[in-house]
Amino acid sequence: MRVKEITMKMLKRRRPRLRVPDGIAIVVTMTVVGVAYVAPASGQAGREAAPIYGITVPQGYRDWALISVARVGGPVNDMRAKLGNDVAIRAFREGQLPFPDGTIIARLAWNATTSEENNNAFRPALERALGPDAAQKALAGSLVAGTPTNVQFMVKDSTKFASTGGWGFAQFTNGKPDSEAVVKTCFACHTPAKDRDFVFTRYSR
Ligand code: HEC
Repeated sequence: MRVKEITMKMLKRRRPRLRVPDGIAIVVTMTVVGVAYVAPASGQAGREAAPIYGITVPQGYRDWALISVARVGGPVNDMRAKLGNDVAIRAFREGQLPFPDGTIIARLAWNATTSEENNNAFRPALERALGPDAAQKALAGSLVAGTPTNVQFMVKDSTKFASTGGWGFAQFTNGKPDSEAVVKTCFACHTPAKDRDFVFTRYSR
């Protein structure tokens, strides 16, 4: 009932002359709690630690700044965004290598999908400029992010993760950590980027 009391106080403070019946306060409280629960994007839900490195989904990662984007073609056919926490963004912008402890890089991904709405808007101008065939080709490659696939994280802690270049790895699907078999593959595949501290992505200005 503490939340209800606070909500009542807030409502009363903002509109001092308004009497708030109990029922309304409860509905408002439930809505606030409901939004707080629903708001996190996919992959941000549970607090369960991923295998091997014991990483949980970092709080608030969906609000981090953009490092860059990438795309993998079919059959993966996804679109990806790399986001970084403050430590990561500063290091990327200053070209700092190796990345300092506390760096976290998130790789979000979505199934690439066609937007009819976008394409209908693009079509007339493209057809005028390119002709119908070339316009159709251009539109076939016009894609937007659809449903989320999974979220990956690289967390820098040179002591804790000393045996894997100072990086811990984790992958979550719908907020649930993926299996040990998946997480086992991460570090080895990142070794070609050893010269850039095992990070492939370059900062896009
Ligand atoms: C088959 C090789 C391969 C495997 C396996 C792999 N990665 Fe990557 N990873 C890449 C490449 C290449 C990029 C850069 C392009 C991209 O983002 O798709 C990348 C990018 C990333 C990034 C963004 C930072 C960077 O290095 O560019 C993160 C975070 C990441 N991977 C985490 C993981 C995690 C966690 C796992 C294991 C669950 C994993 N990766 C497995 C190849 C791999």
